[in-house]
Amino acid sequence: MDNPGGRMLKVKRHFEREAERFDKCFFRVAPFYREAINALVLGLPFKSGKGRRIIDLGCGTGNVTLAVKKRYPEASMVCIDLAENMLELAETKLRRYNDIEYWRGDIRDYDYGGRCDAVVSSLVLHHLEAGDKKEFYRRINDILPAGGVFYIADFVLPSSRYLVKAYREEWKRFMARSLAPAEIAEMLARHKREDRPCEFIAELDLLRKSGFRDVDVIWKKYNFCVYGGFSSK
Ligand SMILES: C[S@@+](CC[C@H](N)C(=O)[O-])C[C@H]1O[C@@H](n2cnc3c(N)ncnc32)[C@H](O)[C@@H]1O
Repeated sequence: MDNPGGRMLKVKRHFEREAERFDKCFFRVAPFYREAINALVLGLPFKSGKGRRIIDLGCGTGNVTLAVKKRYPEASMVCIDLAENMLELAETKLRRYNDIEYWRGDIRDYDYGGRCDAVVSSLVLHHLEAGDKKEFYRRINDILPAGGVFYIADFVLPSSRYLVKAYREEWKRFMARSLAPAEIAEMLARHKREDRPCEFIAELDLLRKSGFRDVDVIWKKYNFCVYGGFSSK
């Protein structure tokens, strides 16, 4: 039986232990990652970053914040992550930029007080249980002003078993270009142990039911999607 508390602890330990390896290995494990992050940043509807505050949920080593800061150097960012070691690497990667706060903890526990114009997240929300998401998305909608945006880059479940299998085979082929068979087996075992991707169509519906409007898919390649919407307050 699944144990969500224990699973999140495993997620934390995994990223604490492998922070150093993460940046080296990640681009060989996550296909189309840069394309997805570019699409995520493209979704931010701001002319300039001046006076904007943007939260990066599960910032890891800071890849998304870096991409946002490159486009909006004047934006204030909040980087949140469970794993201290990932946050330390994010601070190092982002040291040339000002106006970034770092918070270590669970995104479900953060006190989302203060103004915020956008919330972004990449490859994190599949760690949450489906049952936790409704309340979590409502909270995100609550902290955003009318017109504020929430965009997610994540892998999701397709609607048929056939596609689940086909996408998995594609993922294995991608990893086989640069990983040894034992490393691929480790990735697949970890995916099974730690990840809980949600069915994509249900995920879009949940965002709508949580108060987001103009919910849309701004990029999709197999089961890797960038999607979200505007707060409808
Ligand atoms: C696959 S990494 C992605 C990091 C980063 N967003 C990126 O795209 O490079 C997932 C990150 O999410 C963090 N994470 C997972 N669940 C979390 C939670 N409930 N609260 C805060 N951080 C979480 C992990 O510690 C890890 O750093």
